[in-house]
Amino acid sequence: MIIGSNLLFFENLPSTNTRTADLLKKSRLPEGTIVYTNYQSAGRGYSGNRWDSEESKNLLISVVLFPSFVNPVDQFYISMTVSLGICDFLMRFLTDCSVKWPNDIYVNNDKIAGILIESSVSGDQIEYSVAGIGLNINQEKFSDTIPNPVSLSRLTGRSYDLSACLIELGTDLDKRYKQLIAGNRLQIKEEYVSKLYRLNEWFEFRDIKGRYTGRILTVADYGRLQIEMENGNINEYAFKEIEFIL
Ligand code: BTN
Repeated sequence: MIIGSNLLFFENLPSTNTRTADLLKKSRLPEGTIVYTNYQSAGRGYSGNRWDSEESKNLLISVVLFPSFVNPVDQFYISMTVSLGICDFLMRFLTDCSVKWPNDIYVNNDKIAGILIESSVSGDQIEYSVAGIGLNINQEKFSDTIPNPVSLSRLTGRSYDLSACLIELGTDLDKRYKQLIAGNRLQIKEEYVSKLYRLNEWFEFRDIKGRYTGRILTVADYGRLQIEMENGNINEYAFKEIEFIL
């Protein structure tokens, strides 16, 4: 076991990602260490957003990885690997879940988990990656400012033992990370693409030129999202260059 071999708990923290990066700057934690907490006072999401989570209700974790075998230009494989691990965990309890590109985990049209991967790159080598995961488990009520949140308990009407969930999530992430280490990249990419939210169906998107109808075809090099337009043109987007109209 790599992921979950070492667990570091803090009752509360500003952010597990920030604390993990600070710890890594001081000493080399074992690969697969999971830093977790019951409460974050300054939880961070993508693009400077906040990640708010009610105390002791959800999983707030950061996983230490040393993916030196992944070239920085292929970093998106780490993202795909982590997304699949979270989906595997959710599929223990649910019949379906999807990945809203690049790495929001969705059930139907609602977001159940977010991922924030922060890596330190030196030259052509990833020194470390901190894979931060916020996964809503037992939270019932969410602030109105969060667009479309959902939790496992809201979906199933049950409540869950957080410690057991942590172990199960660690196990599922570990299996996927070992797939990446083994070089099964094609399989990772195929499974990730097959799980994409709104794959192959016509929906509304907005890019710099405006709103249009398109359908997601696949994920191209560097993790760019490929969308076909109604006129047959194919566009490729980096993160933040395309918005899903929900
Ligand atoms: C997103 O969807 O914007 C990403 C959210 C990531 C949240 C997790 S919670 C644990 C870890 N620590 C943080 O400060 N952020 C990530």
